[in-house]
Amino acid sequence: MKNSEVKPTWLFGYGSLIYKVDFPYLRSEQASITGWQRRFWQGSQDHRGTPEQPGRVVTLVPAAKVVCKGIAYLVENSVFDHLDHREKNGYQRLEIDIALLNEQQKVSGILYVADEHNPAYLGAARIRDIAAHIAGSHGPSGSNRDYVLQLAEALRDLGDMDPHVFKLESLLRSNNTLQTETARV
Ligand code: SIN
Repeated sequence: MKNSEVKPTWLFGYGSLIYKVDFPYLRSEQASITGWQRRFWQGSQDHRGTPEQPGRVVTLVPAAKVVCKGIAYLVENSVFDHLDHREKNGYQRLEIDIALLNEQQKVSGILYVADEHNPAYLGAARIRDIAAHIAGSHGPSGSNRDYVLQLAEALRDLGDMDPHVFKLESLLRSNNTLQTETARV
């Protein structure tokens, strides 16, 4: 069967897929998933860092009852070639139930998650150390700092006041000392 004959799929974006939409879609809706929370625990060697100095980008970790808001996009299946390439540094597709907020309807779909078994995974650290790491990281897609600030803006628009993301935003916006700490992380 050709890709074009397969039914379109819902994709749930919770990180850069919310604000950097470089793929075609048929519909988009504000949406949420339950049981997951964002953490800047995934290393980025290809977008916000380099193989020598990986940045830190967001992934999801299981968290009972936590609601994570994002954007659901209805995409043709051919779009996954591009998405798989974009998310290739450790992310894998996972099937997930997605709540479409405006329609009060559940659909099943796909998200990209990077778990602790991928080679680029960095894992937990103190929030100030994560902020200092991000303050000093850059890659082909831009500065790691901008990834956080753009995500925080997008989450404010969605009304998802994610404490982990907003703490990082405030540390990165307010604190010049992060620059000096970078040298030590
Ligand atoms: C996502 O945005 O849904 C996945 C993580 C990322 O690409 O930032």
